[in-house]
Amino acid sequence: MTSQEEGFQKTIAELKRLNSLNDEFINVASHELKNLVQPILLFAELAKHGDMDKDRAIDVILATANKLKQLTSDILAVNKIDSDRFVCETEKVDVNGLVEEIVGATRLRLSPEVKLETSFVGIDASEELSIDGDRMRLSQLLTNLINNSAKFTAKGSILLRLNAQPKKNQLEISISDSGSGIPAEVMARLFDKFVPKSTAQGSKQGTGLGLYISKAIVKRHNGEISASNNPTGGTTFRIVLPIRQNSQNEDEKN
Ligand SMILES: Nc1ncnc2c1ncn2[C@@H]1O[C@H](COP(=O)(O)OP(=O)(O)O)[C@@H](O)[C@H]1O
Ligand SMILES: [Mg+2]
Repeated sequence: MTSQEEGFQKTIAELKRLNSLNDEFINVASHELKNLVQPILLFAELAKHGDMDKDRAIDVILATANKLKQLTSDILAVNKIDSDRFVCETEKVDVNGLVEEIVGATRLRLSPEVKLETSFVGIDASEELSIDGDRMRLSQLLTNLINNSAKFTAKGSILLRLNAQPKKNQLEISISDSGSGIPAEVMARLFDKFVPKSTAQGSKQGTGLGLYISKAIVKRHNGEISASNNPTGGTTFRIVLPIRQNSQNEDEKN
C-alpha cells in the first residue's frame, strides 16, 4: 500500500469512528427525549379522563416540560460544540460584576438551609478585574456549577472563591460545596456527554450534559477546569482562566 493509500485508510477509519460516536449520541439523546415526553402524555391523559387531580397533573407536566426544554437546548449546544460551531465572543467581562449578578440571582432561589458565600483572594472588590471572553457563556458556566452545588447540597454551604494570580496573569475561580460529593462512577466520566446516572443521587441528576458544555466554554476561553471531592465532604470545582491584559494585575507591574 502506498503512503497516500495508508493516509486514506486512516481518514476513513477516523470518519467511521466519529460516525459511530455520533450514532451513539443520537441514540442516547432520543432515549432521554422520549423519557421526558412519556410522562407529559401520561399525566395529560390522566387529567383529561378525571383520573387525577388537574392541578397536580399540571405541576408534573410543567416540571417535565421544563426539563425537556433544558435537554433540547443542551443537545443543540453539544451539537454546536461537536461540529466546531460553538463560538464564544471576546469582549471585556467585568468579573466582579458577573459574580455579583449570579450570586444575587442564586440566593433568591436557594433553600434557607444552604448558605452561599463569596471570598476574594488578592482582589480588591472595588478594583477592576476583567477577562476577555463571552459574558453570556461565562454566566452559563458559573450558573451551571452553582446550580449543581445547590442541587446536591441539601443543607450546608456553597463558597465561590476568586483568587487573582494563583500564577501570573491567571484568575482562579473555585466553587466548593458541603454536599453529597460526586460518586466514583460519575467522577470517572464527569466531563463526558451524558454522564452516567448514579443511583445514589437519583432524580436530582439532570441532562448530564451541563459539565460537557461547561468544559467546552472553559476551553474556548483558553482555561482549565477540574473537580475533586473534599476530604471533609462535598465537592470543589476549580477553573483557571487567563486575566485580561491591563486589568488589575497588569496595573501592578507599572
Ligand atoms: N457539586 C456537585 N456535587 C455532587 N455531584 C455533582 C456536583 N456537580 C456535578 N455532580 C454530578 O455530575 C453530574 C453531571 O453534572 P452536569 O453535567 O452538570 O449534569 P446535570 O446537572 O444535568 O445532571 C451530576 O448529575 C452529578 O451526578
Ligand atoms: Mg448541571
